[in-house]
Amino acid sequence: MTNNTNTHVAKSPLGKQRSALANLGVKAPLRGLRVLTLNQPKKIVFGANILQQLPEDLQSSGYKRVLILFTSPLRNVVNTLIPSFDNLSILTQSLEYAFGEPTVDYFHSLLEEGQEFHPDCVVGIGGGSVLDTAKLIAALLDGEQKISEVFGKNLLSGRNIGLICVPTTSGTGSEVSPNAILLDESDSEKKGIISPFLLPDACYIDPVLMTGLPPKITAETAMDALSHCIEAYTNKFSHPVVDNYALAGIKLIVENLETAYKDGQNPEARSALALGSMYGGLCLGPVNTAAVHALSYGLGGKYHISHGLANAVLLPEVMKFNLDAAPEKYAKIAFTIGENTALEGIAKIKSLSTACGIPQKISDIGIESSEVENLADLAMKVTRLLVNNPREVTRADAINIYTELL
Ligand SMILES: [Fe+2]
Repeated sequence: MTNNTNTHVAKSPLGKQRSALANLGVKAPLRGLRVLTLNQPKKIVFGANILQQLPEDLQSSGYKRVLILFTSPLRNVVNTLIPSFDNLSILTQSLEYAFGEPTVDYFHSLLEEGQEFHPDCVVGIGGGSVLDTAKLIAALLDGEQKISEVFGKNLLSGRNIGLICVPTTSGTGSEVSPNAILLDESDSEKKGIISPFLLPDACYIDPVLMTGLPPKITAETAMDALSHCIEAYTNKFSHPVVDNYALAGIKLIVENLETAYKDGQNPEARSALALGSMYGGLCLGPVNTAAVHALSYGLGGKYHISHGLANAVLLPEVMKFNLDAAPEKYAKIAFTIGENTALEGIAKIKSLSTACGIPQKISDIGIESSEVENLADLAMKVTRLLVNNPREVTRADAINIYTELL
């Protein structure tokens, strides 16, 4: 008995874990499985009309000065929240986000306004652009770091105030991700800031807030979320923990997007897309995206095509390009959405995209053949995502993918 115990103690933690699992009749844990860290918001609240509880929740957390960054169409929703904050003696300042995808200059203008109010918490209510901006305002409000110092991964030194995200589109998943993206107009590059300090303390995902989204934005943002799930599942660094989120998101989005596109008020379809988008967002921190997003950045940065639309146009073509590098995964995606072969799965996603009014060619969104080489050069700079792709993407490959879409 004593000997057994000593032997057991001498084992490594992984050895102990294997012994314990063996006793339970479970096979030794997946040898070679890479370590995965899941950083998520401390609190995720999901459901219809849950935004009403936000003022009391913030009071319980001790916040006294709340900066609300909101997207213009949500002004009425913000106006209905303000009296509740007033009744709880929480000072608020509302800041309207009236811009497209955020640039460094626009971010600075909002940061300065936010700093004048000295909030102890920032609430972002809007699509991915608003949430990314709110996250960065909260992290950089103290003025100790400049935005130019934090482009990249894990360069933020901290965040001193609270951060709450309320998504009003079902696409970017920013509310549950550690990422934010800004367009640096000085070089037309979209630049990522990735840090656990960009994860909100809480997010409130309320499908009711999404019922007013126009069909076009519904389709484009959902295709972005679908890209997150597909690029995580087929990722070179995919992981079983994240695979579950990814496959759940793929199924929810593919089965419900067309209904939400045609009937934006449909509560089941809106809830399904909101959930699918959340799953897509949960993939972003631990695994992240790959070639679809890398190739789309030039379309967004230089040609100002919306993020969701750029990804949507590229998604089926990049799936075809990647197919031979991950045939089993593409087959699994196909089975998940009710098709029998990987190619049928890709065709289903392409026909869903078409049915939701998404153009299928970059020439349909104003890109000419003379721009392809420049786009390929911009894509090749996004190495942080290209390394995730299951198949290596060379400059010539990027040119071929864009050319197929002319
Ligand atoms: Fe995205």
